[in-house]
Amino acid sequence: MSKPRLAVLISGQGRNLQAILDALADGRIPAVAAGVISNRPEAAGLARARAAQVPAQVVDHTRFADRAAFDAALGDALQAVQPDFVALAGFMRVLGDAFIRRFRGRLVNIHPSLLPKHRGLDTHRRVLEAGDAEHGASVHYVTEQLDGGPVAIQGRFSVRPQDDAQSLAERVMQDIELKIYPQALAWMARGELAYADGGVRFRGRPLAAPLTLADLEAEFR
Ligand code: GRF
Repeated sequence: MSKPRLAVLISGQGRNLQAILDALADGRIPAVAAGVISNRPEAAGLARARAAQVPAQVVDHTRFADRAAFDAALGDALQAVQPDFVALAGFMRVLGDAFIRRFRGRLVNIHPSLLPKHRGLDTHRRVLEAGDAEHGASVHYVTEQLDGGPVAIQGRFSVRPQDDAQSLAERVMQDIELKIYPQALAWMARGELAYADGGVRFRGRPLAAPLTLADLEAEFR
């Protein structure tokens, strides 16, 4: 059986992208790197893709009259690399309904909060302002509701009294995102994790609650 094709959409640094590229290269994600697309020409992630010999291109949102035109061009560029699934990894544009319908069930995103808490931007500051005891990140399927699609896996930690927004951002990235995203994509590539009937199926059963870091660690026992 041929390996599924994974495309990645980015806007910036690409630390999640790097973790995904590393996992593709060493076979932890059994998929082919179909391509990387950035909406920003200056995104550092583009160089990471090229260094890994993965085709990388820019669809610059500032060159389009409106969101519908950008979404259509992005969708065409994405379709051209024939992805079986698409990971949004620090992709900072809101995608319209038509785009989401076009790739429904194949789009996943990583969001730096314990969804459904703190959708949208500035999550670390909002966690502190709310006095939350815990914080983390979520991998979810993308639906028409912003950061509102069904969550596949979530990693969490306790907020410490000395944490500020910067330390939370660092802990979310290093301790959670870089672990859960490659694993979620590996499960997807193996057909174990899938979007079905508006929810998530894991190993043939509907997920009642998101997978956790404990489920991830059980993979390596
Ligand atoms: C991550 O925290 C991601 O959750 C958020 O933006 C950040 C992207 O960082 N949406 P990077 O581009 O993967 O380094």
